[in-house]
Amino acid sequence: MKIKIAPSILSADFSNMGAAVKKIEQCGADLIHCDVMDGSFVEPITFGAQMLKNIRPLTKLPLDAHLMIEHPKTQVKFFVEAGADIITVHYKACAKISETYLEETLRLIKSYGVKCGVVVNPDVPVENIFPVFPLVDMVLIMSVYPGYGGQKFIPETLEKIKKARQFAANIGKPDMDIEVDGGVNEDNAATIKAAGANVLVAGSAVFNSSNMQKTIAELKI
Ligand code: DX5
Ligand code: ZN
Repeated sequence: MKIKIAPSILSADFSNMGAAVKKIEQCGADLIHCDVMDGSFVEPITFGAQMLKNIRPLTKLPLDAHLMIEHPKTQVKFFVEAGADIITVHYKACAKISETYLEETLRLIKSYGVKCGVVVNPDVPVENIFPVFPLVDMVLIMSVYPGYGGQKFIPETLEKIKKARQFAANIGKPDMDIEVDGGVNEDNAATIKAAGANVLVAGSAVFNSSNMQKTIAELKI
């Protein structure tokens, strides 16, 4: 399976975002991971759809919008208009609204012809999202509690990745994208891929690197 590296612009210098996006593309990134935080679902506030709109013309890479926000359905159209290629929403944010909200949100994203994905926090069993596996293009398994870059990878995540890959294969989607987000670095990337993940988000590992090209290449191997 093709391994894709998605540097998170959360770790970039926000005053110089255009240059950061161009640089990670030049250095071999496959996706631009955009961490959208609302100050409610997670403590910090980062940016909204306007940021994606502004970086859209600067890169050919797909924009991967990770929405760490309450009521994600209300924001879908703005991220679609801004040019997101994939939009992922949190199971927890949806489940607290109603039993059907997650599926409604995923279907809304797909109705625009944009890829959709569902995210689980470290304390959410991966089995909770099995019902939407047939619907999604990607599953995002958080390997830290969302909100901040630079945290340590939670090793229990590996078992969830294995279960997700196994279940995807069981339902006839062996090539489904499984993304892992949080604490990914050159030391643990091989183990994470061996567990079945094929899309690796890396914020601090890429942006704190003195040689981004080398770091991205090493994460891919
Ligand atoms: C965490 C974000 C991550 C984060 C990853 O809330 O969703 O994308 O930026 O950063 P690192 O790779 O530094 O853990
Ligand atoms: Zn993220």
